[in-house]
Amino acid sequence: MIVTTADLFKVAYGKFAVGAYNINNLEQCMGLFRGNLDSQAPFIIQISKGARSYTHKLMLEGLIRSAEQVFPEAVFAVHLDHGDEATCYDCIDSGFYSSVMIDASHESLAENIAITRRVADRAHAKGISVEAELGQLGGVEEHVSVKEADAKLTDPDQALEFVTGSGCDSLACAIGTSHGAFKFIGTQGLHFDVLEEIQKRLPGFPLVMHGSSSVPQDEVARINAAGGALAGAKGVDAGEFHRASLLGVTKINIDTDGRLVWTRVHREYFRDKPENFDLRPPGKVFMAEYAAFIAAKNGFLGSAGQLGLVKKELGLA
Ligand code: G3H
Ligand code: 13P
Ligand code: ZN
Repeated sequence: MIVTTADLFKVAYGKFAVGAYNINNLEQCMGLFRGNLDSQAPFIIQISKGARSYTHKLMLEGLIRSAEQVFPEAVFAVHLDHGDEATCYDCIDSGFYSSVMIDASHESLAENIAITRRVADRAHAKGISVEAELGQLGGVEEHVSVKEADAKLTDPDQALEFVTGSGCDSLACAIGTSHGAFKFIGTQGLHFDVLEEIQKRLPGFPLVMHGSSSVPQDEVARINAAGGALAGAKGVDAGEFHRASLLGVTKINIDTDGRLVWTRVHREYFRDKPENFDLRPPGKVFMAEYAAFIAAKNGFLGSAGQLGLVKKELGLA
């Protein structure tokens, strides 16, 4: 059943983080539902602008509505990931999305506040909640000094001003992560000090961690052994999710790891069966492997086993 993101956050805040997983196609959709049910976890489905235009924006909506019938036990929200203003309005007006993310983090503070406020007003009128972003999730590059990288982190004082001024319902904070498979060099990691300061200023307010794929090294090694070229890929230690959730991180975004599962399965399958040209056998392997990946990830997020509590708290039991 589709529920509001706000309801999931009420149950999860300070206890566990809800996994927010991006999907683009049928196989990801099936694996996602199976994995969350296998681990008895509530979850958030994320749809990016790119995913909406991969085929047609209505295709994923149709898939998710069908999955809701195929898996009636599932409890989840549907979220627009990294939206611009126009896409947010389209999703708000569609009546399908539980929440939207307006990403104006590249704008000045004043402009970010103004854009987010417009989106929040329109979303709230329809009972939809809004995630916004403050700070910059930089890619980690050799030439960027630690000082420069730290300057892009969310400023805790600005966070309070931003949330108050913009009316957003959750805040994506830059605490050292970045999108994709190449996040850290050397000993860089998450800035729990920044998170702690943000939580002090915004107690009870849901925080969001983007760029949280773990980029498992065994996965990378298998991809490279099967013809890939992902040298130096490195991600977030999933063992740190629990500490982050105690500091107010209520939603953790994971996309890249799912893409790595897809890449490994398909590279290995066609390497080992070069005579094959049927898409269904590797598709079946992927759905099972993606489900297992999701279930394991939910263990780290603390969302595994919380489905009963969520149903009870939301009056669905
Ligand atoms: O943060 C970005 C997500 O991983 C979505 O990626 O825009 O390629 O669909 P995408
Ligand atoms: P990853 O690239 O680490 O999976 O991050 C995904 C994300 O933040 C989607 O918004
Ligand atoms: Zn993101």
